[in-house]
Amino acid sequence: VTPPADGDIGRIDVLDLERIAADGWRAIDTARAGQWLMRAGDGFTGRANSVLPLGSPGIGLTSALREVRKFYDGHRLPALFQVPRCDETALLEGFLDDHGWEPFNPTMVLVATVADAAGRCPRLDGWPAATFAAEPSSAWLARYTYRGRPLPPSAGRILRNADPVVFASLEADGDVVAVARGVVTDGWLGVTALTVDPARLRSGAGRHLMGELLRWAADRGARNCYLQVAADNEAALGLYARLGFSAHHRYHYRRSSGTR
Ligand SMILES: CC(C)(COP(=O)(O)OP(=O)(O)OC[C@H]1O[C@@H](n2cnc3c(N)ncnc32)[C@H](O)[C@@H]1OP(=O)(O)O)[C@@H](O)C(=O)NCCC(=O)NCCS
Repeated sequence: VTPPADGDIGRIDVLDLERIAADGWRAIDTARAGQWLMRAGDGFTGRANSVLPLGSPGIGLTSALREVRKFYDGHRLPALFQVPRCDETALLEGFLDDHGWEPFNPTMVLVATVADAAGRCPRLDGWPAATFAAEPSSAWLARYTYRGRPLPPSAGRILRNADPVVFASLEADGDVVAVARGVVTDGWLGVTALTVDPARLRSGAGRHLMGELLRWAADRGARNCYLQVAADNEAALGLYARLGFSAHHRYHYRRSSGTR
């Protein structure tokens, strides 16, 4: 994938950006059905436990679906799709609709240039420099909650499974008050796991830590940044709008009716 030039980030293809994002949040076990990427990660996060259709499965959709069910049955996981909304997936969406696969968890993929976003979150007075580590500490893991829930034991393996990956923490009064994970792939910084102590919301910690992570990534050659945000996460959307991010595309998941 050739990263687009600065100021040209809207032009990267939906599926190219999805490929970059999938590289930044990898499953434990994967298999291919043509250009479909089937991922399993002990059930931790939809992204690591769903099929990402990055093009054609190379076989008919009915046969491809059979492959999908076999893969997920083998992992004792429900079969899920993560479907990016774009022309290339329109046929699949229709097929899944017709076969009772219901959409859920609509998500927005946001983009900004690193320089622009970093310019909107300069170092704030009163906050120390963030610390960066190659491994998540127990304090980091304790602060991160996924969709409001604590992490399952398999989470550490998924979180570490990228290169280069960094675990950023912001400390105040001896506590880790905010954490985030950063990954650089093909010149793109992917930010995941940004979480602020619920007792410290709206005090600038999220913005400050984003600034620190963006500066860390700029030093490592990242020019652009992407984020994946649940479409109903108003706090996160508010923060990222403030930092100049704009919507690149959306995706949602699909599960076979009867699966929960
Ligand atoms: C999203 C989150 C990280 C924001 O962190 P935060 O430290 O509270 O945000 P900040 O104090 O730095 O806010 C900076 C700006 O973001 C925007 N913002 C933050 N929270 C907002 C909210 N609840 N509603 C609307 N805008 C909001 C505002 O513009 C705010 O500036 P202001 O306070 O001067 O108005 C925090 O709410 C959080 O941890 N949420 C749970 C985990 C999560 O959803 N993470 C994001 C995953 S993609």
